[in-house]
Amino acid sequence: MSVTVRVPAKVNVQLAVGPARSDGFHPLANVFLAVGLYDEVTVTPADELRITCAGPDADQVPLDRTNLAARAAEALAARYGRDPGVHIHIAKDIPVAGGMAGGSADGAAALVACDALWGTGASREELLAICAELGSDVPFSLVGGAALGIGRGEQLTPLETGGTFHWVFAMAGRGLSTPAVFREFDRLGEGTDIPDPVASQELIAALAKGDPDALAATVSNDLQPAALSLFPELAATLATGRAAGALAALVSGSGPTTAFLVRDPESAAAVAQALVASGTCRTVRTALGPAPGATVAGAG
Ligand code: C5P
Repeated sequence: MSVTVRVPAKVNVQLAVGPARSDGFHPLANVFLAVGLYDEVTVTPADELRITCAGPDADQVPLDRTNLAARAAEALAARYGRDPGVHIHIAKDIPVAGGMAGGSADGAAALVACDALWGTGASREELLAICAELGSDVPFSLVGGAALGIGRGEQLTPLETGGTFHWVFAMAGRGLSTPAVFREFDRLGEGTDIPDPVASQELIAALAKGDPDALAATVSNDLQPAALSLFPELAATLATGRAAGALAALVSGSGPTTAFLVRDPESAAAVAQALVASGTCRTVRTALGPAPGATVAGAG
């Protein structure tokens, strides 16, 4: 018996960041869009909890209890008083430490997979509560689609999308640590008055309309200056995509993946080709958003 769950990556079309709270987290107005780059997580009964991983970035994935997939299995097992003995295999396509919630995706996927394997029958609310304990982005990986996240990003309100958006993603040659990017945000903002984060109603309307021009005019990422400060070479990647006709170019979340919103598949191909030719990134991928959240893809 095994269960496989497919789970998408995300891009933040708005990431408004407020001043650090006393617990070190930052209040966010975080508009997530799930995009069609997927990890697949397969769970199989085993004597003890263990993780394996395959894919281009597999060597950068921790295989110990720090992996969010392991923590998800342990949290669900503890709640239902059962042994967490399970083999978790991650077929990894989402970039590691890339600002696309790859680790969070694996946490949400392992949770859904173990729930199905063990027949725990946890409610959606219970699963979402466990996700929120695992990390700020994990609840969104469970629900997918588009959503506004407030608090530290974990309190979600689903958002309507009136169409499919075309994206190109440029993966960088190295990762960026999310806490390091938030620390750099704090450092750059020292002595300035950082406003409380507010969701853009224009952006939410653009998503609801499915209008790429309106979305391009409103995307924003308050972590982008911090990511560029730690990874200045990203400026050349962003400029390449813009010059090749992207409607908008931005850092995805805490980076260093860069995201390019384009009008159609033809433009996606042109932007992707220019990015590859520029040599300013490691890999280039195209994807559509929104995509569904963590979903059982097979059981056998
Ligand atoms: O919630 P998660 O464990 O994914 O967060 C990783 C790190 O990102 C936190 O330890 C913190 O440094 C930073 N973070 C933050 N404010 C948020 C979310 C994350 O400062 N709202």
